[in-house]
Parts: sequence; C-alpha cells; structure tokens
Amino acid sequence: MDSPLSFDGRVVVVTGAGGGLGRAYSLAFAERGASVVVNDLGGDYRGVGKCSLAADKVVEEITNKGGKAVANYDSVEEGEKIVKTALDAFGRIDVVVNNAGILRDRSFGRISDEDWDIVHRIHLRGSFQVTRAAWDHMKKQNFGRIIMTSSASGLYGNFGQANYSAAKLGLLGLANSLAIEGAKNNIHCNTIAPTAGSRLTQSLFSEDILKALKPDYVAPLVLWLCHESCDENGGLFEVAGGWIGKLRWERTLGAIVRQRNQPVSPEVVKDNWKKICDFENASKPQRIQDSLGFIIETLSKMDSDGGVSTNHTSHAASSTTTSKFGGAIGHKLPPFFSAYTEVDTILYALGVGASIKEPKDFKFIYEGSSDFSCLPTFGVIIAQKYLFSGELAEIPGLSINMAKILHGEQYLELYKPFPRTGKLKSEAVIVDILDKGSGLLLLVDVYSYSGNELMCYNQFSVFIVGSGGFGGNQTSDKVKETVAIPSRPPDVVHTDTTSLNQAALYRLSGDWNPLHIDPNFAGAVGFDKPILHGLCTFGFCARHVLQQFADNDVSRFKAIKVRFTKPVYPGQTLQTEMWKEGNRIHFQTKVQETGNLAISNAYVDLVPASDILAKIPSEGGELQSTLIFKEIGHHLKDVGHKVVKKINAVFEWHITKGGNTAVKWTIDLKNGTGTVYQGPAKGSADVTIILSDEDFMDVVFGKLDPQKAFLSGRLKAHGNIMLSLKLQSIFKDYAKL
Ligand code: NAI
Repeated sequence: MDSPLSFDGRVVVVTGAGGGLGRAYSLAFAERGASVVVNDLGGDYRGVGKCSLAADKVVEEITNKGGKAVANYDSVEEGEKIVKTALDAFGRIDVVVNNAGILRDRSFGRISDEDWDIVHRIHLRGSFQVTRAAWDHMKKQNFGRIIMTSSASGLYGNFGQANYSAAKLGLLGLANSLAIEGAKNNIHCNTIAPTAGSRLTQSLFSEDILKALKPDYVAPLVLWLCHESCDENGGLFEVAGGWIGKLRWERTLGAIVRQRNQPVSPEVVKDNWKKICDFENASKPQRIQDSLGFIIETLSKMDSDGGVSTNHTSHAASSTTTSKFGGAIGHKLPPFFSAYTEVDTILYALGVGASIKEPKDFKFIYEGSSDFSCLPTFGVIIAQKYLFSGELAEIPGLSINMAKILHGEQYLELYKPFPRTGKLKSEAVIVDILDKGSGLLLLVDVYSYSGNELMCYNQFSVFIVGSGGFGGNQTSDKVKETVAIPSRPPDVVHTDTTSLNQAALYRLSGDWNPLHIDPNFAGAVGFDKPILHGLCTFGFCARHVLQQFADNDVSRFKAIKVRFTKPVYPGQTLQTEMWKEGNRIHFQTKVQETGNLAISNAYVDLVPASDILAKIPSEGGELQSTLIFKEIGHHLKDVGHKVVKKINAVFEWHITKGGNTAVKWTIDLKNGTGTVYQGPAKGSADVTIILSDEDFMDVVFGKLDPQKAFLSGRLKAHGNIMLSLKLQSIFKDYAKL
C-alpha cells in the first residue's frame, strides 16, 4: 500500500465545523497533520442565533489529541475574517472546505424573501466570500484545494427545498468556473453532494440509518480531493455511508430543426421531439468548448447542407451529400433473399468460436438443445450478400476497385431474436459517401425483413483505399458512431484462442474472399499469411459480451458497433476487455500475442432484463413477483457464492395482494451458495419484509425507493432492517439489467 496521505504543513479552513460533517472533516485533517481553522457561527439549523461553544468544542477535541486547531466564530459571509484567522494563526491557507449551511424548508409558494435570501447568503454567497478571501494567497503559493458542498436536492430537486436546491446547484456552477480559472495555479475545486446523519437530517432517517450514514464516512473523499497528490479538478461526487460515485453531463445527439434561411417552427420541434430526447449514442460534453464546438459545427453544417437532420436509421438518402456522388447516394441495391436453417446457424456459431468446451455454448451448436438459439451476430451473415454480389461495382457515378475494399466499421441492431430457420429479404441503400483523405468511405445501410417484419438493421462502413481526397464531407449524421471506452481498467477480461482453421471454418458462412484462405493471395495484397475475417472476430467478441453480461440469453441482445483496427491471424488469442455502463457494454479486443488492438471503441447494447420480464404476461392473476423470485434463484446459481459472502442473511418476504398475504418467499443468502424458495424461512429469518406484489415490482425496477416506502409505511420490515439496505444493492443490479 502507498504511504498514508499526510497534510503536514498544510493549513485548512473548514466552515460550519462545529458539528456534523464539518466536525468530521476537521478531526480527520488534524489527525493527518494539518493545522485547522474550525469556523462555526454556532446558530441553530435555521441560521438563528450564534454561539462560540460549537467551534470551541471541536478545537478542544483536536488539541486534546495533540492536533493543531484554532476557532473562528464569524459568519461565512465575512470570509476575509475567517481567512485572516488562518493567516494570523498559521501563516498560510492551503485548503478551504465550504461546508457551513442552514435550512429554511418551505413549499415553493410559501417561501418568504427572507427564507430565500438567507439560504443563498449562507450557502452561495458565504462560499464565494471565504473562497475569494483565500484565492490570491493560493495563487501566489501556486497551490490550493477548494471543496464546494452541494446536495442531492440541488442535483435532482426536492419538495420543499426550492431555495436550498437553487443555492446548492449554484455552488456547482461556481465550482465549475473556479476549476477552470484555478487550474493554471494548481488550484483545484471539486464539489461534493454528501448524505450524512447530522442535525439537518436527523428527522429524515431512522436511528439505524443515521448510524450507517456517519459523517466520518464522507471525510475521506474530502481529504483525498484536498491532497496535493490528487489531480481531480472540477469533479462532482455523491458520497454517503462509505460509497462514492462521480457524476457527469450527458447530452443527446439532438436534431437540427432549422432549414437554411427559414424560421424554426414549434411544429418542427414537435416532429423531432423523439430524436431531440433520444439518449442513444449520447455524448458526454465535459467542457464549454465541447458544447460550443458542436453547435458551431452544426451551424456550419446547416449552412452548407441546408437540411433538417433526419433519423439515423432513416431509409432515406442523406441530403448532406457530396455533389460528386449525388447519383450514388440514395442508390438502392436490388433486394436479395437469404434463407437459412439450423445447419447454417450452427456452422456460423462454430465459425465464431462457440465450442463444446463451454457448456453454455451448447445451445448454439446443438439443434436438439431445449433452448437452441441462433447467435444474434448471424444478422451480418444475412445482410452481407450484397458485398459479394458485384452490385457495389454497379453503383452509378462510383467506380469501385473491389481489391481495395476494407471493412472499416460495423453496426448491427436486432429487433427480435432470429428463429431457428428463416427466409429474409434484405434491402440495401447507399446512405452516404465520405471523404476520409486516404480513402473513400461508403456507408451502406441494410434492412432485413421476415415477411413485413423488420428483423435487423446493419450499417456496413466500407473503406475504399486510395479513393479519398475528393473534397467531400468527412462526417455524416448517418453514421452509427463508435463510442470511446471508459478510462478505468476493464470490469471483465475474457480470453479466447482462435483455431488455425478458424478462417477456413468461418468462410463457409458466406465470405469467400481468398484473402482468408489462400497464402498466395494474402501475400499479393501485403499480408504474411491469410488473415481472419473481421466479422469473425466481431462474432467472437459479441459472444464474449453475451456470455459475460447476459448469460447467453439472445433476447437480451440489442445492438453492436465495432471499429476494425488491426488484422488477426488464425491461431491467435483474442483478449476482449469489457466495461459495463448500465445496459451498454463497452469493449475492445486485443491480440494477446502482439498487444495490437483488433477492435476498438466498440459496444454492445443489451435489452434491460426488466423489459424482458415485463414482456412475460402474468397468467391467471399469478403474482408478478413470482417471476422475479424465480429469476433471482436462477441468477444465484451463477453468483450465489459471491452474494452469500457479501450479504450473509436470510430474508423472508410476505407478498400481499389486496391487503392479504398472498405468498411467502425466502431468499437465503446465508447458507451454502444461496437459495430462493417459496414459503417461510426454514430456519429463522434475519429480516422479514412485507409489501404488495405491485410495490415489490416497483422496488425491483427502481421505481420505488424502499427507504421511502418504509418511511411511509408501504413497506414493513421486522428484524435487522439494516440488512434490507444490502438487499437494495442486489435489486439495483436487477433494475440495471
Ligand atoms: P450541520 O447543521 O451539522 O452543520 C452545518 C454547520 O454550519 C453548523 O454547525 C452551523 O452552525 C454552521 N453554520 C450555519 N451557518 C453558518 C454561518 N453563517 N457561518 C458559519 N457557520 C455556519 O449540518 P451538516 O449536515 O453537517 O451539513 C454540512 C453541509 O453539508 C451543509 O452545507 C449542508 O447543506 C450539506 N449537506 C448535508 C447533507 C446531509 O445529509 N447531512 C446533505 C446534503 C448537503
């Protein structure tokens, strides 16, 4: 372990430090060597009165332990005086923790001017005053750490706290700008939204919960953010009871609702509303430049193209075209049919590495399995025929040298799982042609139908080497974009060795390009030996994700996007690194032998498990919760040992219908690898939870906060109710699934 984080020689001001969170911070800083100014006005929680006792008591606690601290009793509105106390007593100021706060809760219509003003004065203006007083000293010494204290009420809103929410979110805005202004002087400003037991929250939580939400559990985050070795700047964190999470902004791709030289009408806004609010492929702007840059780019697009942006998966041709290829864009290739049987889907599964070595793969390679399924990525096989039919060479206005074609990226979206046999009609259209400098990028959308039902949509990004530089657009709103992988280490890494015969096997699914089998051909186009098909690696990765995050349930597969980066040779080992972010699994795949990235910035979108369950009708008044209990039992088979270790408790559930107990269930997460069974606990239950079937479903799917349900009496619990908090974390996983 690294050496402990020391604050020797540092001078820290903590405002509102006479109790609650401020006290915890002061003690923690002092314990690690800091000299602390314990500021507190000492009034009541509404900001009435003043008293020196609160600050004095904390100073005494610190000095009794051998620490260094002085008290200050000024209001934060007099920031200069507080900072002067630090300079007089210790000669410098390194850290400001803006923490002082009061409440004047009132429903919005009843907020008086005074209630509004005092809350803003203490929280927002007070933080400004103290920070400004410290700012120049920090700049001169080229070091400073500042904490702003926001609140979940500001981030999400809360009934009766409009004045407080506004001030608390104002602090985030202040911090965002200070983080930018201070960066060049090594002054970092971060914001926390804590939840902790204190006099401000004591009426909200039960005693048990207050104990679990100790202010001491928040202090370590504040100390880390204020340490000289911490680079974090401009961050926002929620923190409570020993848990910390970071927040960020997310923005939809949005829609262009203006045509050149025309006013924007509300009707166009209405027509585009779905797209404006669609978070699929959302971006995560971090800086004002990201935000403005995109807007400027969009404006220039509007100017040059003049069009209203269309749906990404729209069948229509783009209006943002390069005139040179005006005839090619929008060109529809002749429809084609693909019929398949179990033989084809099994052959494909073997081609992308499904194996009898892995019992869970059995369903993909044995037609006699009770749950025989077709791998979702078989969707590319159905749609790829146009690539080999010679039709590409026939596109009007475009001359394509087929020998120069590379597969750049692939997107596939499934609307329902493929049946074991089928006959699909596919329609392909050239939706855009882009100029990538070293090459031309052809975007081909392919829609595949079973009868009238759309089964899947593919977007092939076909790169034609050497045909770029024609002065065309570099980007298009038609592109299904790749998404950068998260910066943290992967959540899961899966390795899988391809066989020497992998390409020989895969090509039987329909990609007959000799590059993948014929050494002479491969040599002639610059490879040492035949390479694996990109779409074969693609199939491997999708299997890895499906296996790791969806228990090989094909109905959970929604979409996949990949960028092909470097070739893979048959026999090499693929290492798929995966990150779970909600229902999106980001991944990249490396060749283990070389470390080269074969697939980058890729993702699989999964259908939430809740949607799948919701589709299963409840029969003859059967309780909906039954499905969930069964599902949890099923899930435990895989992860039971881990969950038992973590939870170590037996939960008895009384599920009510119309006010009467309809069924009892037991979730035993204490014994063996965990079990779920109908009926009361066989031994004794650690906690018994009583709630209606409907509320149970809402809790599981995150629509009902069990805390609130408990506080309002909708959910009753006996025994060690603290344990139900642990259970919440399991359900959270379900809600996300
Ligand atoms: P607390 O009431 O125990 O501590 C606040 C302290 O600020 C008090 O000791 C009070 O005397 C002092 N104070 C009030 N006005 C002052 C002024 N004008 N000048 C100097 N000191 C003054 O409350 P707690 O919970 O420790 O709150 C600390 C901060 O955390 C507050 O800003 C609060 O809004 C924020 N917060 C707390 C949450 C929680 O769950 N406890 C939730 C979200 C935010």
